[in-house]
Amino acid sequence: MQREHWGSRIGFILAAAGSAVGLGNIWKFPYLVGAEGGGAFLVVYVAFLIAIGVCVMIAEIALGRQAQSNPFGAFKRAAGGGWSIFGLLAVLTAFLILSFYSVVGGWTVAYIVKTVSGGFSGYTGAEFEKQFGALVSSAIEPIVYHGAFMAIGVLIVIRGISGGIEKASKIMMPLLFILLALLVVRSLTLPGAMAGVKYFLVPDWSHLDADMVSAALGQAFFTLSLGMGALITYGSYLGKKESIPNAAMWVVGLDLLVAVLAGFLILPAVFAFNMDPAAGPGLTFITLPAIFAELPFGMFIQLCFFVLLFVAAITSAISLLQVVVAFVCEEFNVGRKSATIWVGLVTFLFGVPSSLALGIWGEFTLFGMNFFELLGFITDNYFLPLGGVATCLVAGWVSYDKFVNEITNEGERPFTYLTAWKWMCRVVAPIAIIYVMLHATFDV
Ligand code: PFF
Repeated sequence: MQREHWGSRIGFILAAAGSAVGLGNIWKFPYLVGAEGGGAFLVVYVAFLIAIGVCVMIAEIALGRQAQSNPFGAFKRAAGGGWSIFGLLAVLTAFLILSFYSVVGGWTVAYIVKTVSGGFSGYTGAEFEKQFGALVSSAIEPIVYHGAFMAIGVLIVIRGISGGIEKASKIMMPLLFILLALLVVRSLTLPGAMAGVKYFLVPDWSHLDADMVSAALGQAFFTLSLGMGALITYGSYLGKKESIPNAAMWVVGLDLLVAVLAGFLILPAVFAFNMDPAAGPGLTFITLPAIFAELPFGMFIQLCFFVLLFVAAITSAISLLQVVVAFVCEEFNVGRKSATIWVGLVTFLFGVPSSLALGIWGEFTLFGMNFFELLGFITDNYFLPLGGVATCLVAGWVSYDKFVNEITNEGERPFTYLTAWKWMCRVVAPIAIIYVMLHATFDV
């Protein structure tokens, strides 16, 4: 059977950027910048994004395209038997991340519903805090929203690559940019906004330490959707004539643009209202709604913001879903429709304990972490980096010639930075990534 393809180059770039641009950019990036020293973090982060992120992304797309397969088949074909274990790991990681990512995605649906139905009118900051705590810790409500979020993902993925994922990305990514631009203008025109801009851009190098470096590399990996097979899978549907380095640079550029714009949206607003920029995860779900509530047309702004967050989350979630669906379809010969429904259902069920861990199952902990935190910790610090290292080693050492062929389109499109890319994959990226793993474990 003929493998499905993206309908156009821009379709692939928007879908891959949709995968990359997610809660990581809008929810996590601004609070990391807030907590890790503003502009200093930004500089380190951008350096990693360009040096390591682009290289690993090129390797992942090339791996998928040469093998024309899901991550498991891709490692098997590119590097042979034993390496396929890393393909399996990538599929497992996508499944695990999707299970809790969808729980957070569900919160964005909840906020949209509550904003539209007027459930937040007249709320003060303290009330937002209370209601967020009540939402995430209740037994049923967040699970219903988690289910709704997953169902939307299933409805998109079930329509296939060009008819589902590409079409959805072509509508949602432009919408995301419009909403983001609108919100940035509103935030920057608030009195006192400049203090936030300054905080965001001016480096405070006293924050430069191992924690910050490791957080920056971890975030670079997560935000680019590396290490869990998403770009291997998306790359497998990319036409043979397209330039992989060029596509990768576009995706990284768009991802960085959204993260920086999210910084310009969130930090100026936080400073204008004298809030704490290092408030952590609550920044988006508590601090920002409290700020919006004080503004004229606040509910409309709030709606725009949560639609933005939802769009960012769903375009990422579908890439994770597609990893697992492609694996099930290709390795077990299951039709796309039933595979999508089953994978959606099983992932939803596996997400339930993550949701309950924030409420009634909160006391069940391992190494001091509840189930939700534990999944995030393991995938972030071990599974993603392992997948990244494996891809680098296969690309740089094991099957280097095959990768060069793929990246240069059989020699037709020379890649200027090939030597730099080779040594990044062979030495620099693996060492940097292994360092992050060691740091997470032993605090070195
Ligand atoms: N890159 C997404 C984000 O920044 O939120 C998260 C993500 C999506 C990670 C898809 C991995 C992935 F395969």
